[in-house]
Amino acid sequence: MNGLKLLATGRCLPKTAVSNEEMSRWVDTSDEWIASRTGIRQRYFCGEGETALTLAAGAARQALARSGIDPAGLGCVLCATVSPDYATPSLACLVQAELGLPEDIPVLDVNAACSGFLYAVAAARGFLAQSGRHYALVIGVEVLSRLMDMTDRSTCVLFGDGAGAAVFEAVPNAPFASLQGARGGKAILANGPGPLAPRLTMDGRAVFRFAVEAIPRCIDGILTQTHLTLNDIDWVVCHQANERILDHCIKKLHAPAEKFYKNMARYGNTSAASIPIALDEMNEQGLLKPGQTLLCVGFGGGLTWAAALFTL
Ligand code: COA
Repeated sequence: MNGLKLLATGRCLPKTAVSNEEMSRWVDTSDEWIASRTGIRQRYFCGEGETALTLAAGAARQALARSGIDPAGLGCVLCATVSPDYATPSLACLVQAELGLPEDIPVLDVNAACSGFLYAVAAARGFLAQSGRHYALVIGVEVLSRLMDMTDRSTCVLFGDGAGAAVFEAVPNAPFASLQGARGGKAILANGPGPLAPRLTMDGRAVFRFAVEAIPRCIDGILTQTHLTLNDIDWVVCHQANERILDHCIKKLHAPAEKFYKNMARYGNTSAASIPIALDEMNEQGLLKPGQTLLCVGFGGGLTWAAALFTL
């Protein structure tokens, strides 16, 4: 099967950034508490007129324009999200209609929470192999503010809204590896749209323990599959849940900290959107260069985990 190369990225954030200081006016918390435990300084929350669709379409438009491809050549459109606007139509279908994307291709949402973007990348590769088409549009988008209890300080300070998108090309012999896994449980639980009030709950300590075990296991898994070492990897882009989780893993792996990109300070935890937002920020900063090898790792609700190695 062909490997995938990352061609282009885009991102779209709500207009309103909310600082830790502002959060401390809503709930009993402080910038010091949030920043020291998570590394988060601000997040974005959707306001009037901003939806999962407006964010996803904004990020997708940007990624497609930068890729230079004709959108008619897309082989699939995947949207990783746990907070779509509707149960059906899927967010991916709404994006397809909004952007006038092809009809004779798979268009679907993927729910694997914070691992969703990487689950979707692997699924996209499979869809391209099936059809022989060359390009995939993979979006990660969340409007977690609509699922959160804004009076629960143990969760509402952690998460944010946003979207990132990526266009991948199937290329013969391009290096590629991926893995996915799940351990069903309710350590992170969110009521979707329906009769129950929106509410996201989390056993923070259990999730912390899970994450610091899952990330090194994912990295080791990909390195074993590819017979590579961290020296061969230019960037490790992990799901941006929490700076302490990443620092813990870097220490455990004796890994070079400068290879691990971090931006949770600016966005909080945007679940499925966090990896593509990070990729787009890195692109914008000129950190991503042709020929580089990236190793991405997701972990979170489900519980799920996933990793992917691809090149630029
Ligand atoms: N501001 C101030 N105090 C808060 C708070 C907030 N926003 N949220 C919780 N607290 C309080 C708690 O009520 C508790 O008070 P108590 O001791 O009086 O009961 C105290 O802080 C300590 O809570 P605890 O849960 O022990 O804190 P912690 O050091 O474990 O940090 C997390 C909590 C959530 C930051 C940490 O468990 C974590 O990072 N978990 C992983 C979460 C995550 O990243 N999830 C997403 C993965 S995809």
